[in-house]
Amino acid sequence: RWQSSLPQLDHVDRSDEESGGEIDWDNLGFGLTPTDYMYVMRSSPEDLGAFPRGELCRYGNIELSPSSGVLNYAQGLFEGMKAYRRPGRAGYTLFRPEENARRMQHGAERMCMPAPSVDQFVSAVKETVVANRRWVPPQGKGALYLRPLLMGSGPILGLAPAPEYTFLIYAAPVGNYFKEGLAPINLVVDDEFHRAMPGGTGGVKTIANYAPVLKAQMNAKSKGFTDVLYLDAVHKRYLEEVSSCNVFVVKGGVVATPATRGTILPGITRKSVVELARDRGYKVTASLNLSLVPFVHRAHNFQQQLTVPYRTTLISSGLAEQVEERLVSIDDLIDADEVFCTGTAVVVAPVSTVTYQGRRHEFRTGPDTVAQELYTTLTSIQMGLAEDNKGWTV
Ligand code: COI
Repeated sequence: RWQSSLPQLDHVDRSDEESGGEIDWDNLGFGLTPTDYMYVMRSSPEDLGAFPRGELCRYGNIELSPSSGVLNYAQGLFEGMKAYRRPGRAGYTLFRPEENARRMQHGAERMCMPAPSVDQFVSAVKETVVANRRWVPPQGKGALYLRPLLMGSGPILGLAPAPEYTFLIYAAPVGNYFKEGLAPINLVVDDEFHRAMPGGTGGVKTIANYAPVLKAQMNAKSKGFTDVLYLDAVHKRYLEEVSSCNVFVVKGGVVATPATRGTILPGITRKSVVELARDRGYKVTASLNLSLVPFVHRAHNFQQQLTVPYRTTLISSGLAEQVEERLVSIDDLIDADEVFCTGTAVVVAPVSTVTYQGRRHEFRTGPDTVAQELYTTLTSIQMGLAEDNKGWTV
Protein backbone atom coordinates (compact mmCIF):
# COMPACT_ATOMS: atom_id res chain seq x y z
CA ARG A 1 0.00 0.00 0.00
CA TRP A 2 2.07 2.83 -1.24
CA GLN A 3 -0.33 5.50 -0.08
CA SER A 4 0.95 5.08 3.45
CA SER A 5 4.27 6.49 2.27
CA LEU A 6 2.86 9.59 0.57
CA PRO A 7 4.34 12.88 1.75
CA GLN A 8 2.42 13.62 4.92
CA LEU A 9 0.10 16.55 5.33
CA ASP A 10 -0.67 17.92 8.77
CA HIS A 11 -3.06 20.54 7.54
CA VAL A 12 -3.60 22.58 4.41
CA ASP A 13 -1.95 25.92 5.02
CA ARG A 14 -4.42 28.53 3.86
CA SER A 15 -2.55 31.52 5.24
CA ASP A 16 -0.26 32.42 2.34
CA GLU A 17 -2.94 33.97 0.17
CA GLU A 18 -1.18 35.72 -2.67
CA SER A 19 2.50 34.95 -2.95
CA GLY A 20 3.98 32.38 -5.29
CA GLY A 21 7.41 32.56 -3.70
CA GLU A 22 10.31 33.78 -5.79
CA ILE A 23 8.74 32.85 -9.10
CA ASP A 24 9.37 35.13 -12.09
CA TRP A 25 5.80 35.52 -13.34
CA ASP A 26 6.94 37.38 -16.46
CA ASN A 27 8.98 34.47 -17.75
CA LEU A 28 6.85 31.43 -17.15
CA GLY A 29 7.27 28.79 -19.79
CA PHE A 30 5.84 25.29 -19.69
CA GLY A 31 8.37 23.98 -17.18
CA LEU A 32 7.67 22.21 -13.91
CA THR A 33 7.59 24.46 -10.88
CA PRO A 34 6.70 22.19 -7.96
CA THR A 35 3.75 23.46 -5.91
CA ASP A 36 2.63 22.68 -2.37
CA TYR A 37 -0.07 20.04 -2.56
CA MET A 38 -1.32 17.18 -4.67
CA TYR A 39 -4.55 15.24 -4.46
CA VAL A 40 -4.53 11.45 -4.19
CA MET A 41 -7.33 8.91 -4.28
CA ARG A 42 -7.05 5.16 -4.53
CA SER A 43 -9.24 2.25 -5.58
CA SER A 44 -8.38 -1.16 -4.11
CA PRO A 45 -9.85 -4.51 -5.19
CA GLU A 46 -12.35 -4.43 -2.31
CA ASP A 47 -13.66 -1.06 -3.55
CA LEU A 48 -15.09 -2.80 -6.63
CA GLY A 49 -14.14 -0.06 -9.07
CA ALA A 50 -15.08 2.88 -6.84
CA PHE A 51 -12.75 5.49 -5.41
CA PRO A 52 -14.03 5.78 -1.83
CA ARG A 53 -12.02 8.70 -0.46
CA GLY A 54 -9.41 11.16 -1.64
CA GLU A 55 -7.17 13.61 0.17
CA LEU A 56 -4.70 16.39 -0.30
CA CYS A 57 -1.13 15.65 0.67
CA ARG A 58 2.17 17.44 0.32
CA TYR A 59 3.47 17.45 -3.25
CA GLY A 60 6.33 14.99 -3.46
CA ASN A 61 7.57 11.67 -4.77
CA ILE A 62 5.30 8.68 -4.60
CA GLU A 63 6.24 5.09 -4.03
CA LEU A 64 5.24 2.54 -6.66
CA SER A 65 5.70 -1.20 -6.83
CA PRO A 66 8.31 -2.09 -9.48
CA SER A 67 5.63 -4.39 -10.89
CA SER A 68 2.84 -1.79 -11.03
CA GLY A 69 0.62 -1.89 -14.11
CA VAL A 70 1.56 1.63 -15.10
CA LEU A 71 5.33 1.01 -15.03
CA ASN A 72 5.21 -2.32 -16.78
CA TYR A 73 2.33 -2.06 -19.22
CA ALA A 74 1.57 1.69 -19.49
CA GLN A 75 -1.85 1.32 -17.94
CA GLY A 76 -2.30 5.02 -17.41
CA LEU A 77 -4.14 8.16 -18.50
CA PHE A 78 -3.62 11.84 -17.97
CA GLU A 79 -5.57 15.05 -18.40
CA GLY A 80 -4.52 18.66 -18.76
CA MET A 81 -6.50 21.61 -17.37
CA LYS A 82 -5.89 25.21 -16.41
CA ALA A 83 -7.08 27.49 -13.59
CA TYR A 84 -6.94 31.25 -14.15
CA ARG A 85 -7.04 34.00 -11.55
CA ARG A 86 -10.24 35.98 -11.97
CA PRO A 87 -9.71 39.65 -12.79
CA GLY A 88 -10.56 42.03 -9.98
CA ARG A 89 -12.48 39.38 -8.03
CA ALA A 90 -11.72 36.65 -5.61
CA GLY A 91 -11.50 33.15 -6.99
CA TYR A 92 -10.24 31.15 -9.91
CA THR A 93 -11.77 29.97 -13.14
CA LEU A 94 -11.70 26.43 -14.52
CA PHE A 95 -12.71 25.69 -18.09
CA ARG A 96 -15.19 22.87 -18.69
CA PRO A 97 -13.69 20.59 -16.02
CA GLU A 98 -16.51 18.06 -16.31
CA GLU A 99 -15.41 17.46 -19.92
CA ASN A 100 -12.00 16.34 -18.67
CA ALA A 101 -13.72 14.11 -16.13
CA ARG A 102 -15.82 12.45 -18.83
CA ARG A 103 -12.87 12.08 -21.16
CA MET A 104 -10.97 10.34 -18.37
CA GLN A 105 -13.90 8.00 -17.79
CA HIS A 106 -14.03 7.16 -21.49
CA GLY A 107 -10.26 6.58 -21.60
CA ALA A 108 -10.43 4.47 -18.47
CA GLU A 109 -12.97 2.22 -20.12
CA ARG A 110 -10.57 1.73 -23.08
CA MET A 111 -7.63 1.06 -20.75
CA CYS A 112 -9.57 -1.30 -18.43
CA MET A 113 -9.36 0.98 -15.41
CA PRO A 114 -11.95 2.27 -12.93
CA ALA A 115 -12.35 6.06 -12.95
CA PRO A 116 -13.56 8.67 -10.45
CA SER A 117 -17.06 10.03 -10.90
CA VAL A 118 -17.44 13.42 -12.58
CA ASP A 119 -18.25 15.00 -9.20
CA GLN A 120 -15.24 13.41 -7.53
CA PHE A 121 -12.97 14.54 -10.36
CA VAL A 122 -14.21 18.14 -10.39
CA SER A 123 -14.17 18.46 -6.58
CA ALA A 124 -10.62 17.10 -6.49
CA VAL A 125 -9.52 19.63 -9.11
CA LYS A 126 -11.10 22.47 -7.12
CA GLU A 127 -9.42 21.33 -3.91
CA THR A 128 -6.07 21.14 -5.67
CA VAL A 129 -6.43 24.67 -7.05
CA VAL A 130 -7.48 26.16 -3.72
CA ALA A 131 -4.70 24.42 -1.80
CA ASN A 132 -2.13 25.68 -4.33
CA ARG A 133 -3.71 29.07 -4.90
CA ARG A 134 -0.57 31.04 -4.22
CA TRP A 135 0.82 29.44 -7.41
CA VAL A 136 -1.97 30.67 -9.68
CA PRO A 137 -0.17 33.31 -11.79
CA PRO A 138 -1.31 36.93 -11.69
CA GLN A 139 -3.96 37.79 -14.23
CA GLY A 140 -2.53 37.83 -17.75
CA LYS A 141 0.73 36.08 -16.82
CA GLY A 142 -0.37 32.47 -17.23
CA ALA A 143 -2.37 29.78 -15.50
CA LEU A 144 -2.10 27.05 -12.92
CA TYR A 145 -1.84 23.88 -14.99
CA LEU A 146 -3.54 20.85 -13.43
CA ARG A 147 -2.37 17.39 -14.34
CA PRO A 148 -4.85 14.68 -13.30
CA LEU A 149 -3.38 11.16 -13.64
CA LEU A 150 -5.04 7.79 -13.43
CA MET A 151 -2.80 4.75 -13.21
CA GLY A 152 -2.67 1.07 -12.51
CA SER A 153 -0.62 1.37 -9.32
CA GLY A 154 -1.09 -2.19 -8.10
CA PRO A 155 1.45 -4.93 -8.81
CA ILE A 156 0.92 -7.26 -11.75
CA LEU A 157 3.37 -9.50 -13.57
CA GLY A 158 1.35 -11.33 -16.22
CA LEU A 159 -0.34 -9.03 -18.71
CA ALA A 160 -3.66 -8.10 -17.12
CA PRO A 161 -5.33 -5.07 -15.53
CA ALA A 162 -3.64 -4.00 -12.29
CA PRO A 163 -5.35 -4.88 -8.99
CA GLU A 164 -5.22 -1.32 -7.62
CA TYR A 165 -5.63 2.18 -9.14
CA THR A 166 -4.50 5.62 -8.15
CA PHE A 167 -5.96 8.95 -9.20
CA LEU A 168 -3.63 11.86 -8.57
CA ILE A 169 -3.66 15.57 -9.41
CA TYR A 170 -0.65 17.82 -9.25
CA ALA A 171 -0.32 21.44 -10.33
CA ALA A 172 2.28 23.80 -11.77
CA PRO A 173 2.15 27.45 -12.82
CA VAL A 174 2.69 27.75 -16.59
CA GLY A 175 2.98 30.32 -19.34
CA ASN A 176 3.18 29.65 -23.06
CA TYR A 177 3.72 26.07 -24.21
CA PHE A 178 5.98 26.58 -27.21
CA LYS A 179 9.33 28.31 -26.89
CA GLU A 180 8.09 30.72 -29.56
CA GLY A 181 5.65 32.10 -26.94
CA LEU A 182 2.64 33.45 -28.80
CA ALA A 183 4.66 33.78 -32.02
CA PRO A 184 3.75 31.46 -34.92
CA ILE A 185 5.27 27.99 -34.94
CA ASN A 186 6.89 25.90 -37.70
CA LEU A 187 5.72 22.33 -38.20
CA VAL A 188 7.11 19.45 -40.23
CA VAL A 189 4.95 16.62 -41.57
CA ASP A 190 6.43 13.26 -40.66
CA ASP A 191 5.23 10.51 -42.97
CA GLU A 192 7.54 7.88 -41.52
CA PHE A 193 6.39 7.89 -37.88
CA HIS A 194 2.72 7.72 -36.95
CA ARG A 195 1.07 8.75 -33.75
CA ALA A 196 -1.87 6.35 -33.83
CA MET A 197 -3.50 3.64 -35.87
CA PRO A 198 -7.08 2.53 -36.44
CA GLY A 199 -8.24 0.41 -33.54
CA GLY A 200 -5.45 1.70 -31.30
CA THR A 201 -5.60 4.23 -28.48
CA GLY A 202 -5.05 7.53 -30.33
CA GLY A 203 -8.53 8.70 -29.36
CA VAL A 204 -7.93 8.51 -25.60
CA LYS A 205 -5.45 10.40 -23.49
CA THR A 206 -3.30 7.48 -22.47
CA ILE A 207 0.31 8.02 -21.47
CA ALA A 208 1.12 5.32 -24.03
CA ASN A 209 0.44 7.76 -26.90
CA TYR A 210 3.10 10.24 -25.91
CA ALA A 211 6.48 8.46 -25.52
CA PRO A 212 6.24 7.06 -29.09
CA VAL A 213 6.19 10.57 -30.60
CA LEU A 214 9.34 11.69 -28.81
CA LYS A 215 11.63 10.30 -31.51
CA ALA A 216 9.85 12.17 -34.30
CA GLN A 217 9.66 15.30 -32.16
CA MET A 218 13.40 15.19 -31.36
CA ASN A 219 14.23 14.71 -35.06
CA ALA A 220 12.06 17.71 -35.92
CA LYS A 221 13.56 19.91 -33.21
CA SER A 222 17.08 19.02 -34.27
CA LYS A 223 16.19 20.44 -37.69
CA GLY A 224 14.80 23.67 -36.20
CA PHE A 225 11.08 22.82 -36.38
CA THR A 226 8.78 23.45 -33.46
CA ASP A 227 6.92 20.14 -33.65
CA VAL A 228 5.57 17.37 -35.89
CA LEU A 229 2.27 17.12 -37.77
CA TYR A 230 1.22 13.49 -38.23
CA LEU A 231 -0.67 11.93 -41.12
CA ASP A 232 -2.98 8.93 -40.92
CA ALA A 233 -1.11 5.64 -40.79
CA VAL A 234 -3.00 3.95 -43.63
CA HIS A 235 -3.22 6.43 -46.50
CA LYS A 236 -0.46 8.75 -45.30
CA ARG A 237 -2.62 11.50 -46.71
CA TYR A 238 -5.04 12.78 -44.09
CA LEU A 239 -4.11 15.11 -41.25
CA GLU A 240 -4.26 13.67 -37.74
CA GLU A 241 -2.77 15.96 -35.10
CA VAL A 242 0.42 17.50 -33.79
CA SER A 243 2.34 15.72 -30.95
CA SER A 244 0.61 17.71 -28.23
CA CYS A 245 -2.39 19.39 -29.88
CA ASN A 246 -5.12 19.29 -32.56
CA VAL A 247 -4.79 21.02 -35.92
CA PHE A 248 -7.13 23.34 -37.87
CA VAL A 249 -6.86 24.76 -41.39
CA VAL A 250 -8.69 27.80 -42.78
CA LYS A 251 -9.60 28.55 -46.38
CA GLY A 252 -11.89 31.47 -47.11
CA GLY A 253 -14.67 31.38 -44.55
CA VAL A 254 -14.24 27.67 -43.89
CA VAL A 255 -12.56 26.45 -40.75
CA ALA A 256 -11.68 22.77 -40.97
CA THR A 257 -10.35 20.21 -38.52
CA PRO A 258 -9.81 16.48 -38.94
CA ALA A 259 -12.68 14.34 -37.78
CA THR A 260 -12.14 12.26 -34.67
CA ARG A 261 -12.23 8.65 -35.83
CA GLY A 262 -10.55 7.01 -32.87
CA THR A 263 -7.04 8.04 -33.90
CA ILE A 264 -7.29 11.72 -32.94
CA LEU A 265 -7.62 13.07 -29.42
CA PRO A 266 -11.05 14.69 -28.95
CA GLY A 267 -9.61 17.91 -27.54
CA ILE A 268 -11.77 20.04 -25.28
CA THR A 269 -10.17 23.17 -26.74
CA ARG A 270 -10.77 21.71 -30.22
CA LYS A 271 -14.44 21.17 -29.46
CA SER A 272 -14.78 24.65 -27.95
CA VAL A 273 -13.04 26.32 -30.90
CA VAL A 274 -15.36 24.50 -33.33
CA GLU A 275 -18.33 25.90 -31.43
CA LEU A 276 -16.91 29.42 -31.16
CA ALA A 277 -16.02 29.47 -34.86
CA ARG A 278 -19.57 28.44 -35.76
CA ASP A 279 -20.97 31.12 -33.47
CA ARG A 280 -18.84 33.68 -35.26
CA GLY A 281 -20.25 32.72 -38.63
CA TYR A 282 -17.57 30.46 -39.99
CA LYS A 283 -18.55 27.28 -41.69
CA VAL A 284 -16.79 24.54 -39.79
CA THR A 285 -16.09 21.28 -41.55
CA ALA A 286 -13.24 18.91 -42.05
CA SER A 287 -13.09 19.36 -45.79
CA LEU A 288 -11.89 22.55 -47.38
CA ASN A 289 -13.35 22.23 -50.82
CA LEU A 290 -16.73 21.15 -49.51
CA SER A 291 -16.92 18.47 -52.16
CA LEU A 292 -17.46 15.09 -50.63
CA VAL A 293 -14.11 13.55 -50.04
CA PRO A 294 -13.67 9.82 -49.70
CA PHE A 295 -13.88 8.85 -46.13
CA VAL A 296 -13.07 5.74 -44.26
CA HIS A 297 -16.09 4.25 -42.64
CA ARG A 298 -14.75 2.06 -39.91
CA ALA A 299 -11.44 2.11 -38.18
CA HIS A 300 -10.88 -1.59 -38.74
CA ASN A 301 -11.88 -1.45 -42.41
CA PHE A 302 -9.80 1.36 -43.66
CA GLN A 303 -10.10 0.37 -47.29
CA GLN A 304 -13.84 0.87 -47.44
CA GLN A 305 -14.28 4.22 -49.16
CA LEU A 306 -17.58 6.03 -48.88
CA THR A 307 -18.44 9.27 -50.55
CA VAL A 308 -20.81 10.65 -47.97
CA PRO A 309 -20.09 13.01 -45.12
CA TYR A 310 -20.46 11.42 -41.75
CA ARG A 311 -21.40 12.36 -38.26
CA THR A 312 -19.41 11.64 -35.20
CA THR A 313 -20.52 11.65 -31.61
CA LEU A 314 -18.35 13.74 -29.33
CA ILE A 315 -17.70 11.21 -26.64
CA SER A 316 -16.54 13.82 -24.19
CA SER A 317 -19.89 15.54 -24.04
CA GLY A 318 -21.66 12.45 -22.83
CA LEU A 319 -24.62 13.60 -24.91
CA ALA A 320 -25.53 12.69 -28.45
CA GLU A 321 -24.03 15.91 -29.73
CA GLN A 322 -23.52 15.68 -33.47
CA VAL A 323 -20.90 17.49 -35.47
CA GLU A 324 -20.55 17.15 -39.19
CA GLU A 325 -16.97 16.33 -40.03
CA ARG A 326 -14.90 15.08 -42.93
CA LEU A 327 -11.30 14.21 -43.56
CA VAL A 328 -8.72 16.95 -44.16
CA SER A 329 -6.00 15.97 -46.59
CA ILE A 330 -2.45 17.23 -46.79
CA ASP A 331 -3.47 18.85 -50.11
CA ASP A 332 -6.19 20.78 -48.26
CA LEU A 333 -3.54 22.01 -45.86
CA ILE A 334 -1.14 23.07 -48.60
CA ASP A 335 -3.98 25.02 -50.22
CA ALA A 336 -5.06 26.69 -46.95
CA ASP A 337 -4.76 30.36 -46.02
CA GLU A 338 -4.18 29.67 -42.35
CA VAL A 339 -3.19 26.79 -40.11
CA PHE A 340 -3.42 26.74 -36.32
CA CYS A 341 -3.22 24.31 -33.44
CA THR A 342 -5.42 23.97 -30.36
CA GLY A 343 -4.96 22.32 -26.99
CA THR A 344 -5.15 23.05 -23.28
CA ALA A 345 -1.42 23.65 -23.06
CA VAL A 346 -0.97 25.41 -26.43
CA VAL A 347 -4.39 27.23 -26.35
CA VAL A 348 -4.65 28.47 -29.99
CA ALA A 349 -1.22 28.56 -31.66
CA PRO A 350 -0.80 30.03 -35.16
CA VAL A 351 1.36 28.06 -37.62
CA SER A 352 3.49 30.08 -40.02
CA THR A 353 5.06 27.21 -41.98
CA VAL A 354 4.50 23.53 -42.60
CA THR A 355 7.25 21.56 -44.32
CA TYR A 356 6.09 18.50 -46.25
CA GLN A 357 8.37 16.26 -48.31
CA GLY A 358 11.09 18.90 -48.20
CA ARG A 359 8.87 21.80 -49.34
CA ARG A 360 8.04 24.64 -47.01
CA HIS A 361 4.52 26.05 -47.21
CA GLU A 362 3.73 29.42 -45.67
CA PHE A 363 0.49 30.57 -44.06
CA ARG A 364 -1.04 33.80 -42.96
CA THR A 365 -0.46 34.81 -39.34
CA GLY A 366 -0.95 38.04 -37.40
CA PRO A 367 -3.67 40.33 -36.12
CA ASP A 368 -6.36 39.86 -38.78
CA THR A 369 -6.45 36.10 -38.79
CA VAL A 370 -9.11 33.62 -37.79
CA ALA A 371 -6.61 32.08 -35.35
CA GLN A 372 -6.14 35.41 -33.58
CA GLU A 373 -9.88 36.02 -33.43
CA LEU A 374 -10.53 32.59 -31.96
CA TYR A 375 -7.61 32.89 -29.53
CA THR A 376 -8.98 36.17 -28.18
CA THR A 377 -12.54 34.90 -27.99
CA LEU A 378 -11.56 31.70 -26.20
CA THR A 379 -9.05 33.16 -23.76
CA SER A 380 -11.39 36.02 -22.84
CA ILE A 381 -13.90 33.43 -21.66
CA GLN A 382 -11.25 31.25 -19.98
CA MET A 383 -9.72 34.18 -18.10
CA GLY A 384 -13.06 35.65 -17.08
CA LEU A 385 -12.59 38.80 -19.20
CA ALA A 386 -15.70 38.21 -21.30
CA GLU A 387 -19.17 37.08 -20.39
CA ASP A 388 -19.44 33.30 -20.44
CA ASN A 389 -22.73 32.83 -22.26
CA LYS A 390 -21.98 29.16 -22.73
CA GLY A 391 -21.70 28.23 -19.07
CA TRP A 392 -18.26 26.80 -19.76
CA THR A 393 -16.43 28.24 -16.79
CA VAL A 394 -16.55 27.03 -13.22
C1 COI B 1 -2.42 19.52 -22.79
O1 COI B 1 -2.60 20.29 -23.73
O2 COI B 1 -2.81 19.83 -21.66
C2 COI B 1 -1.79 18.23 -22.97
O3 COI B 1 -2.12 17.35 -22.24
C3 COI B 1 -0.72 18.04 -23.95
C4 COI B 1 0.57 17.74 -23.28
C5 COI B 1 1.47 16.99 -24.19
C6 COI B 1 1.24 18.99 -22.77
